[in-house]
Amino acid sequence: MERRLRVWDSGASEELLVGGDVTEGVVRAGNTVRRPHGASSERVQALLTHLERVGFAGAPRFLGVDDRGRDVLTFVEGEVAGRPAPEWVASDDRATSVASLLRAYHDAVASFGLPDIFEEASVLPDGSPESLAVPRDLIGHRDVTLENVVFSDGAASALIDFDLARPSARVEDVCNMLQWWAPWQPVEDRPGPLVEVDACARARMMVDAYGLDSYSRGILVPLARNMAERTWYSMRLRAQREGGGWRRMWDAGVGDAIRRRQAWLQKNEDALVAAVT
Ligand SMILES: Nc1ncnc2c1ncn2[C@@H]1O[C@H](COP(=O)(O)OP(=O)(O)O)[C@@H](O)[C@H]1O
Ligand SMILES: [Mg+2]
Repeated sequence: MERRLRVWDSGASEELLVGGDVTEGVVRAGNTVRRPHGASSERVQALLTHLERVGFAGAPRFLGVDDRGRDVLTFVEGEVAGRPAPEWVASDDRATSVASLLRAYHDAVASFGLPDIFEEASVLPDGSPESLAVPRDLIGHRDVTLENVVFSDGAASALIDFDLARPSARVEDVCNMLQWWAPWQPVEDRPGPLVEVDACARARMMVDAYGLDSYSRGILVPLARNMAERTWYSMRLRAQREGGGWRRMWDAGVGDAIRRRQAWLQKNEDALVAAVT
């Protein structure tokens, strides 16, 4: 489908959207969202255009750029968790609906393949372990946080914020989702409403709702540990190289939180494996 880029006017009245850590200047203008044009814009545009073409309803549409050079997307109506997180993030039904949405996203993005624009010279930060050898056969979302899912009538209806999308194995996205929504995090680092949540039981419900295959279930916990270790190094590198929100997160102690999560994963490994396999 050939799409003509339409140039939009700046919104007459703009409302600052907060919720993420990284992107500054995300605003709502009427039924649109304006995001600063950046390194990931070309990739996100191609990805959202693919999702539209295959009729996937669970993502914003890419509409064009505005007169200030910002990317213009549709504003997806619904509820999004802000900070502090609302009580409803503790709902099991909500969590399993996120898993179903992620599955639907994967099924829709599979035919997009691995376009060249997603090829990155991958630098392994000094000291970082290699990733586990998993088949990266689709473009994963890789940032399924509480703040990046829109809900409608109590069920997850759209993923937003595709800035970190990259070649992935399905199970890597499932790992990422469990980190936030199960949540696979120590109690002291969870948002209040998730403190009491049983991370084993929720993970089981979520991988069932996703329909995760048994091979992936078997590597889920080792993969979560590997990804956490790698994230520590990659976030430190991003803080050094890109600064901005990455620097702020690092200075606010995200590295130490990752270390605590690694210890939590190690301590709970047997129970988590038993829950998801
Ligand atoms: N297309 C959209 N539809 C509805 N809400 C959105 C949309 N894009 C962003 N938002 C809202 O703005 C917040 C921040 O936007 P996001 O794209 O996630 O930026 P960041 O990179 O800072 O996380 C989101 O958590 C959400 O509440
Ligand atoms: Mg976000």
